Amino acid sequence: MAELLITGDGLRAILPPTVACAQLLGESTDAEVRTDEQHLVGRGARAMQSVLARRCAREALGEIGFAHMPIGRQDSGAPAWPVGIVGSLTHTDGYLGAAVGLGRHHRAIGIDAEPNEPVGGAHRAFTTEDEIHQLAELGHYFGNEIAWERLLFSTKEAAYKAFHTLTDRTLPMTGARSRVFPDGTFVVTTTRPNRHRGERWDWPGRWCRYDDFLLAAVVVS
Ligand SMILES: CC(C)(COP(=O)(O)OP(=O)(O)OC[C@H]1O[C@@H](n2cnc3c(N)ncnc32)[C@H](O)[C@@H]1OP(=O)(O)O)[C@@H](O)C(=O)NCCC(=O)NCCS
Repeated sequence: MAELLITGDGLRAILPPTVACAQLLGESTDAEVRTDEQHLVGRGARAMQSVLARRCAREALGEIGFAHMPIGRQDSGAPAWPVGIVGSLTHTDGYLGAAVGLGRHHRAIGIDAEPNEPVGGAHRAFTTEDEIHQLAELGHYFGNEIAWERLLFSTKEAAYKAFHTLTDRTLPMTGARSRVFPDGTFVVTTTRPNRHRGERWDWPGRWCRYDDFLLAAVVVS
């Protein structure tokens, strides 16, 4: 039987060595806000998470030689990375993280963190019949230590962020299918837009449980 990946390393355990990362576990506390990131503050409870996630990103950027850069937000909501960088941010109550890499090594990165808790009704809209069957099997064979449907959702959110980086488009709600495997891997399938419309993209990813959170990462090279 596969070992479920429950790890004290978090993001590091699910990213390749060429991707730098940093994370914070625990309640977010007030942080000094850089003047060039002041515009991020004022969006309510998640504003400080945005600021702290960027602090994580700068820590990770420091590892690849880009420390101290501001990280803005594009109109789409995606982070505005320094030229030559690809990356992704995620934050939820109690956890925030960032992953960054050089554009010459990777085309897109998407990470997502979710509480390891069952999903509410709204998330169900993302789950197909096939996936419901798959989730039932995972629960049957591996128990409910992992909130499998939440994990499935998280894999798609990670893929959504990578998809947007590559295409500058949003991924339609039902535009991704995910197969989650108990060994800490998954594959998200999407359809390529533009002149490649109709062709499939199959993106392998990795997931883990870290403390009370589920983490998912997709790195497209
Ligand atoms: C954009 C989205 C993926 C963010 O996910 P989330 O779980 O709400 O929040 P997270 O904390 O994980 O991520 C937030 C970060 O995502 C990043 N983000 C937002 N929009 C993004 C986009 N279009 N592309 C890449 N990254 C994006 C930002 O860095 C944001 O943090 P910030 O506001 O502090 O800068 C989500 O809100 C969304 O719109 N999902 C679409 C639903 C969907 O179609 N899902 C899957 C397809 S089947």
